[in-house]
Amino acid sequence: MTKKVLVLPGDGIGSEIIKEAVKVLGALNLDIEIDAALIGGAAVDATGEPLPAVTLEKAQAADAILLGAVGGPKWDANPMEKRPEKGLLAIRSKLGLFANLRPAILYPQLAEVSSLKPEIVAGLDILIVRELTGGIYFGQPRGIRTLENGDREGFNTYVYNETEIRRIGRQAFEAAQKRNKRLCSIDKSNVLEVTVLWKEVMTELAKEYPDVELSHMLVDNAAMQLVKAPKQFDVLVTGNMFGDILSDEAAMLTGSIGMLPSASLDENGKGMYEPCHGSAPDIAGQNLANPLATILSVAMMLRYSLNEEAAAARIEAAVEKVLDQGLRTGDIMSAGCTQIGTEAMGDAVVAAL
Ligand code: NAD
Ligand code: IPM
Ligand code: MN
Repeated sequence: MTKKVLVLPGDGIGSEIIKEAVKVLGALNLDIEIDAALIGGAAVDATGEPLPAVTLEKAQAADAILLGAVGGPKWDANPMEKRPEKGLLAIRSKLGLFANLRPAILYPQLAEVSSLKPEIVAGLDILIVRELTGGIYFGQPRGIRTLENGDREGFNTYVYNETEIRRIGRQAFEAAQKRNKRLCSIDKSNVLEVTVLWKEVMTELAKEYPDVELSHMLVDNAAMQLVKAPKQFDVLVTGNMFGDILSDEAAMLTGSIGMLPSASLDENGKGMYEPCHGSAPDIAGQNLANPLATILSVAMMLRYSLNEEAAAARIEAAVEKVLDQGLRTGDIMSAGCTQIGTEAMGDAVVAAL
């Protein structure tokens, strides 16, 4: 049966990287029908809303969604509800995409490009499991208010209930079972009650997964350990905000944030796939962006939502081949390699398929 993929280019480099990812998907000749819709700043400009109702309807009807990136200086002064980022947060929340998988893998060809010494990152293969629809990103109450003395006060609420913690915990334990069976839960349980509960629930869950070795680490130490000795980790599980920050940090270990794909899954394996990076306004429209994170997100989409493991593996092998050929976008450039643009990188992956 024909599978339906909804493509949401978004803003900035979003349309450039999505174009290359769609090119690669098309070259596989699978029975897939591709539709597109607006999200983010592009949607605000066209409709006044960062997530138009028609986009949400199309997303609900699709088998999988592929997103570029949202945001940019043009909309930074907008009220929160009319910011591009609200569109992304809303689609994650409305589709129940609570499990965000962010694998950070160092391709051996890029060992030189990592900001860490090659021996510290060689062979790096970690998975960050980030809770995506709760925590301080969504907690109520939130806002900016004026106190009686005239002072303004900004406030957010960091809240998780045990059901939310348990379901992301299960995803992480199950991911660890398929890997090296080590799971590190990241919290701030020395200060924040919400993460005291997080740690307790993870510890309870561990009894159901005796083959997985669970450890706990405070988030500040985890940030440090990630750059000190990242290979000590297999799977990390954490809340929304810590996961956002730690995954950008982990991205750099692999050479560039332009290499990091992600999957955001619901309870039934339906998912949205996107690079971990943003709309990169500083390089947008210049054919400079690295499309590989988005192309690798297509591979995750084929694997997790479209039941096309062989096609996923083909894309990953093609990316390796292109790196072997010494082809590099600017963000992963190093001596002796050939610098190419966004489009040429997409073409090179297609040629290598
Ligand atoms: P960013 O990830 O867009 O850019 C950070 C740096 O990484 C920039 O120097 C950029 O040029 C570089 N970079 C990012 N992706 C790259 C790629 N594919 N190839 C080469 N270089 C790349 O983060 P930012 O600058 O903090 O945010 C810019 C905008 O993007 C903001 O509006 C932010 O809200 C938004 N954002 C969106 C998403 C998303 O849509 N998922 C994620 C992060 C940030
Ligand atoms: C990401 C981004 C988003 C997040 C923003 C743009 C809302 O940084 O996907 O990592 O914080 O989740
Ligand atoms: Mn982020």
